[in-house]
Amino acid sequence: MTHRRPTALVTGGIGGFGLALARLLLARDFNVALADLDVERGRTVAEELDVLFIPLDVGDLAANHRAVSLVETHFDAVDAVFLNAGILGQQDPSEPLDMPAYEAIVSANQHGVVYGIDAAVPALRRSGGGRIVVTASLAGLVPMAGDPSYSMTKSAALAYSRAMAQRLVGERITVTVVCPGFADTPMLGALRPAFQEAGFPILTAAEVAAGLLLAHDEGEPGSAYIVQPGLPPTPYRFRNVPAARNSVGASVAVPAGLSAHAVDSAASTDVSS
Ligand SMILES: NC(=O)c1ccc[n+]([C@@H]2O[C@H](COP(=O)([O-])OP(=O)(O)OC[C@H]3O[C@@H](n4cnc5c(N)ncnc54)[C@H](O)[C@@H]3O)[C@@H](O)[C@H]2O)c1
Repeated sequence: MTHRRPTALVTGGIGGFGLALARLLLARDFNVALADLDVERGRTVAEELDVLFIPLDVGDLAANHRAVSLVETHFDAVDAVFLNAGILGQQDPSEPLDMPAYEAIVSANQHGVVYGIDAAVPALRRSGGGRIVVTASLAGLVPMAGDPSYSMTKSAALAYSRAMAQRLVGERITVTVVCPGFADTPMLGALRPAFQEAGFPILTAAEVAAGLLLAHDEGEPGSAYIVQPGLPPTPYRFRNVPAARNSVGASVAVPAGLSAHAVDSAASTDVSS
């Protein structure tokens, strides 16, 4: 039996995590397509790595579909899609809301995941199943007071991906999420000296890329891996949400079809407990 090379598409593919992941995927003999907004650097990087580059604004639904089609046509199939593009938001939340900045972060971090999943699913179905790995953030689990819109969009990415994971599980499409802490990439930018001064450890892009690959290889549907300095990537166990009680005080499950899970059925600890 012959095995074809698997194909992966990475959005935000020429950023810190995207590039580190591309290197890991190439070492694993994947066909790699990198999609990114930064077209000029994208073309240079793609030539250096000998991978396919696709100009993409992840906040454009039709462009996401075109990107996935291009990858499918070029490599015959798509097996893994890493929805990793993202930006920071307004850095000073004490200022009045900056509408263009707000719309830009929702577009990249939230629409980018919703549209990316929409575009990936038909191609993954044609491959007989596959993997979607979403880069959220610890800021989606822990409030990030310095950038509330960032926290909001990363929570949205996490919630949407976990709900979609339940819907897609029967189609052999596994959706997982990775929530990294602060990492040394261009995104950290001006914040880097503050971490250094405080002696706060920050992740390398390679450590996060290893977490993304682990989520791809081993992640259960809807699992969310925490990547923190000094710890192996760890699945986060979402705390129980109390179930509804009926008139005699017994807990009742949500009707089938409305939720794949009765609330209360998940594990009850988080990684810090
Ligand atoms: N660096 C961190 O500390 C950190 C921590 C947790 C989560 N994250 C998340 O990890 C992901 C990757 O971030 P990174 O640290 O590699 O940052 P990065 O800035 O190095 O890379 C992000 C890439 O996304 C691209 N991009 C931005 N908007 C886009 C759009 N609309 N369409 C397509 N591409 C777009 C950028 O051009 C860039 O190449 C992001 O989603 C980010 O929010 C980063």
